[in-house]
Amino acid sequence: MTRKGFRAEILTVPEDPALAGPEAVRHESDGLLVVEDGLVVARGPFETMAARFPGLAVERLAGLIVPGFVDAHIHFPQTERIASHGAQLLEWLERHIFPAEAAFADRDHSDSVAGFFLGELLRNGTTSALVFPTVHEGSVEALFEAALARDMRIISGKVLMDLGPPDLRDSIEEGRAATERLIGRWRGRGRLGYAVTPRFALTSSDAQLADAGGMLREHPDVLLHTHLSENLGELAAVAERFPDAEDYLSVYERYGLAGPRSVFAHSIHLNDGEMGRLAGCGCAIAFCPTSNLFLGSGLFDLALADRHGIPVGIGTDVGAGTSFSLLATLGEAYKVCQMRGASLDPFRALHLATAGGARALRIGDKVGSLEPGQEADFVLLDSEATPLLARRTRGASLFDRLFALQVLGDDRAVAATYVAGRPAHRRDGGAIE
Ligand code: GUN
Ligand code: ZN
Repeated sequence: MTRKGFRAEILTVPEDPALAGPEAVRHESDGLLVVEDGLVVARGPFETMAARFPGLAVERLAGLIVPGFVDAHIHFPQTERIASHGAQLLEWLERHIFPAEAAFADRDHSDSVAGFFLGELLRNGTTSALVFPTVHEGSVEALFEAALARDMRIISGKVLMDLGPPDLRDSIEEGRAATERLIGRWRGRGRLGYAVTPRFALTSSDAQLADAGGMLREHPDVLLHTHLSENLGELAAVAERFPDAEDYLSVYERYGLAGPRSVFAHSIHLNDGEMGRLAGCGCAIAFCPTSNLFLGSGLFDLALADRHGIPVGIGTDVGAGTSFSLLATLGEAYKVCQMRGASLDPFRALHLATAGGARALRIGDKVGSLEPGQEADFVLLDSEATPLLARRTRGASLFDRLFALQVLGDDRAVAATYVAGRPAHRRDGGAIE
């Protein structure tokens, strides 16, 4: 690819404003993003950059460029079960989710849903994601193949669940063999990453949890992805299954699953001791507000996680989550924080959905900030996407525009999504290279 410039308003939040203050916000009202071979070469005010790169081919984009969104927790096989009515976590899994996941034994079905799923991510401006597939090896193959074809930064790994329902169950040996095959086959390809993925404490035997810990130790480049402390019924079942465990987190700790490469979805009902231990081991949390509200799971305490200095990313958690849009998810995160008596600043929210999420997934050196050397994944936001957004943002400050995009925006506000400097989605049609 030749060197190219994109001229637009540009906003990035590489550091957490809660720690770094207002300096964390980088904004150019007339900026230029210079891209070569899929990487950011430079970024800055248009006049300065144009002088530095004379003769550069420049495309003018109407809208606000922000880094591509990072979804820190989502389930691709639940795409067609989003908006399934009427139950909390454990019953919802039995009634709606396990039957849907059983269909992924079929590779054609996996391919079809994987393609649609990645298309939805791109329509919503999401360019990186940590993704649950199913227990089936073929579901991971389908997702990785489709992601490789789109050059997306996707992290996933076969779900381990030897105590799952009969048609959705592996064994310790099958789980390990498939995990090793997948790591061997996909390691280092494109922008893909692997995560050892025990579903949660209740669907794996003690021996499988221990084996997952072993694989995590043996492969220093993979993540650990699971669910933690989401729902009170789940907590009671964990306490019953592990009567000698001090708390939920200690189950993962005893099997070597809590460490600096671990990402725990939800983490709502943790006590202060568990939060402290998460911080101590360098674990990250995926905060999934739409899911937590939809399933009635509870209100995540972001301020408590902040007090402990735990890295936090934002997850849509589709299909318990109700939107693929990180913008809409940030709007719900704001409301959850309000219910906890805290106010989520829109710049901080953008940080959590970009650089912060990337850091939680250990890809912060590659994406999330549009800093020189990073991959050029970015989104063009349209703050006039709907009549109401246009009215609300007319003449508004950047702060107000960004907040309105989070409260009122969704895929309609994503005018285009660029992956490694190339257009991967255009809302209003037009050629995709
Ligand atoms: N805990 C275990 N499995 C799941 C799942 O599929 N979705 C959610 N939200 N929580 C889980
Ligand atoms: Zn989940």
